[in-house]
Amino acid sequence: MVMYYVTWLWFILFGLCPSSVPDSIPIGMFRTECHDRHFWLSISSNVLGNKFRVDVQGGSEVHEVSGQWAAECGYTIGFDSWGDLLLRVSYLACLVDNQRETEFRVLVWFVNQYSNEEEKSYPLLLACPLQVPWGPRELVCEENYMEVSVLKQSPPDNHIGVEWVTPAPVELDEGLREWRVVFRIPVLHQEGGMREETVPVRMAHLLGYYINTTDTRILLRCPYGSKLAYMLQWGVAGVEVVSATIMYKLKWTLLTVDMSMACTMNQAQMDGSDVLWSLPRNLPALFHPSFIERGLKLGVGGRYLSECVAHQRGYQIQDNNGTLEIRIPFGAEGGTVKSHVIDGRYSQSYFVDVFLLREWKDAAWSLTRQQIFRAFSIRHVPRPITVINLTVPSLGEFSVSLCCFPPDVSLGNVTVAGQPVVWDEMERDGVSLSQNPLPNNTYSYLLRIPFSHPLVSQKYLGDWLRRYTLSGVFSFILTPDGEIYDHPATVEVDLQDVVLPKLEGECTVWGVRVLAYYGNIDSSEWSLYVGGMRLDWDLVELGGFSLDAQEHFLSVEVPLYAHGMAFEGLGMQGLLVSVFVNLVHLETAEEQTHVQRCVFPVRELLVCLPDGRMVVMVDTAGISPPVNPNHTALLDPACRPLETDHSRALFSFHIDSCGTIATYDGDQVIYRNEVRNMPPFLPHLRPLSQPQPHYRVPLGCVHPANGNRSLSIYLPSYPPTPLPLPLKRTHKTASHTGHLEDRDQKIYSLPAGG
Ligand SMILES: *[C@@H]1O[C@H](CO)[C@@H](O)[C@H](O)[C@H]1NC(C)=O
Ligand SMILES: *[C@@H]1O[C@H](CO)[C@@H](O)[C@H](O)[C@H]1NC(C)=O
Ligand SMILES: *[C@@H]1O[C@H](CO)[C@@H](O)[C@H](O)[C@H]1NC(C)=O
Ligand SMILES: *[C@@H]1O[C@H](CO)[C@@H](O)[C@H](O)[C@H]1NC(C)=O
Ligand SMILES: *[C@@H]1O[C@H](CO)[C@@H](O)[C@H](O)[C@H]1NC(C)=O
Ligand SMILES: *[C@@H]1O[C@H](CO)[C@@H](O)[C@H](O)[C@H]1NC(C)=O
Ligand SMILES: *[C@@H]1O[C@H](CO)[C@@H](O)[C@H](O)[C@H]1NC(C)=O
Repeated sequence: MVMYYVTWLWFILFGLCPSSVPDSIPIGMFRTECHDRHFWLSISSNVLGNKFRVDVQGGSEVHEVSGQWAAECGYTIGFDSWGDLLLRVSYLACLVDNQRETEFRVLVWFVNQYSNEEEKSYPLLLACPLQVPWGPRELVCEENYMEVSVLKQSPPDNHIGVEWVTPAPVELDEGLREWRVVFRIPVLHQEGGMREETVPVRMAHLLGYYINTTDTRILLRCPYGSKLAYMLQWGVAGVEVVSATIMYKLKWTLLTVDMSMACTMNQAQMDGSDVLWSLPRNLPALFHPSFIERGLKLGVGGRYLSECVAHQRGYQIQDNNGTLEIRIPFGAEGGTVKSHVIDGRYSQSYFVDVFLLREWKDAAWSLTRQQIFRAFSIRHVPRPITVINLTVPSLGEFSVSLCCFPPDVSLGNVTVAGQPVVWDEMERDGVSLSQNPLPNNTYSYLLRIPFSHPLVSQKYLGDWLRRYTLSGVFSFILTPDGEIYDHPATVEVDLQDVVLPKLEGECTVWGVRVLAYYGNIDSSEWSLYVGGMRLDWDLVELGGFSLDAQEHFLSVEVPLYAHGMAFEGLGMQGLLVSVFVNLVHLETAEEQTHVQRCVFPVRELLVCLPDGRMVVMVDTAGISPPVNPNHTALLDPACRPLETDHSRALFSFHIDSCGTIATYDGDQVIYRNEVRNMPPFLPHLRPLSQPQPHYRVPLGCVHPANGNRSLSIYLPSYPPTPLPLPLKRTHKTASHTGHLEDRDQKIYSLPAGG
């Protein structure tokens, strides 16, 4: 199969063919090879004009290679799977110069025809030496013809495949003209019945059979579908058979030789992801008893495949119960692939030119070689595109590959999260895209994009787990038609990389400040609650909160007595309040909570508690004459302070006790009491002479007559003023008993420095 030589004969031919002036030959235009039994010429599709033809010349005879003539004469012309023009010429073809059966030459003219009637002709002298010696019988199943050639036997040294027939049935001489061909054909409506038809060579020529002889061989060739050929169904395959015997005379002896031919006609089919070509192992009319297989070789695109390469590419040949099954993975190297988009689906057509060489031995022939050439085209097979997830989470980026596209597909653009990726910008952000060739002449495309990229979506799943999702569409362009094919790809990865938001708090002069550190997941996924109420602009306004959004946290300052603040106690240290804050994740309902407690020093305060207690702190500083806080009491003098310091006294009592007076006012009840100075009796003074207390602080709480009480806080006035209390009430916070009533800041601001 090595290229032997190609000679540009234009200088020799100049005188021979004055009508065809040879033109100079562009480099790479022609490729010629010598195969086992064929010249092989391919002409690049790039140089083919609108119209062209191929002529062959033998001596002064010039013939265009086409149609019936080509088939009868051993020429095959057509396009190969790459779209190049391919001419295969049998060494035994008409017009081939046969030099003692060991070297063959043929002069081919390639003629490009242009629209302006101009022609350019390129003469090519193809010359090939015989590389594999002729076998006793050689069969060819070409795409357009069948051919058989057998060794012309000499009478003394042959007993096989050639019979002696004596006496001669007809008078023959040595000349070819006198030969006879006996065709056997099935008899209609008679199972297994055959009849014979004997025709002279000249008649056989008229029926489309080419019969000739060389120095050593006898040759029979015919196009498919010839008269006297017949079809057989042999298992899976339709087989065309020409069953013929040639009678010829040598040295006054009449010889007959079997010249039968049989070729399978079936196309290959898809079987799973393979192209499957099935053919009978033993072709009818060709196989004789004691058959021994001597060799089987497969080739594609004009090249035999070594076992190693065939294995690498996934080709297989199997003998399945008398059927040879040849499997070629769809799209495998050796053929060509063309891409299409049909109804939005990606599909491919696959074209592969296959040839098969079989060699066997049987009782009739010591060796038969059969070559079969078939061009298969499998059209519009939907092809899966695989999205391969190559993401390694520790690398911090998605890595997704789309596989595998033939070279007629290229990536146009990529859309991620609905946004077209503009590469100049994306490269800055760590996005990369590459096209990677694979050993089988396909390409994969690899997109890498950091988890942190804004086009990558994130979702918190709970338990510090976050899901990153890359959702993209790859848009491919098919050449040469420019069709567009879009393929979606979605990959996700779950990482435990979440820093949850954190709550902290601190006490300020004016109230409680809550700090919500954002963490590293989208803060909009969380709701912040203050005192059980969702923080929104209404609440901010209502509670007089001040918000401050910093880089890492949000601070919310809740003023004393505002919504969201809870009363915890009143003691000599001051008023103990707390703010309960929580962050709730909207989807997982996961929660972060924090309670910030603060003590605000107070000098005087009255707290009416829902449980019916009144807690009050009074300050006797500056009273004249001075009042010892140890000597204060409620209306019931037995109710003494719980605690005192040098000027303040703290009382805590229930509204049912300590002389508290309840007055009904509509649906409200006003509970009144007062703190007074109540010095102990001096031993020398009579009780009656006890002076009126000069220190009196009225206390009052208002609760509904029926229904739940709520908390209220007041500032007891000084000097004592007549009740009613409270000084001021605004609306109640209905839902959160225990929370401070909304207060007017002007009235209830903290005593400075208290
Ligand atoms: C048979 O072969 C000879 C020489 O090979 C050739 O001259 C002749 O034309 C051929 N006959 C036909 C019918 O082609
Ligand atoms: C093999 O083929 C023969 C006839 O072609 C058939 O009768 C037989 O069942 C087949 N055997 C198997 C295993 O398929
Ligand atoms: C090409 O190779 C890739 C990777 O080995 C494989 O996935 C793909 O199926 C092959 N394609 C063909 C047409 O053989
Ligand atoms: C690129 O994407 C746009 C949509 O964003 C699409 O209309 C266009 O056809 C695509 N181009 C190619 C070459 O794929
Ligand atoms: C992709 O790969 C990552 C990392 O190996 C893995 O966590 C994830 O489950 C894979 N699957 C999909 C569908 O993204
Ligand atoms: C009040 O009484 C306590 C204990 O009985 C005493 O320690 C304290 O000094 C008294 N306070 C005043 C202002 O007298
Ligand atoms: C009083 O409080 C109880 C328990 O908190 C509640 O079930 C009830 O509805 C409240 N009644 C009124 C009138 O608000």
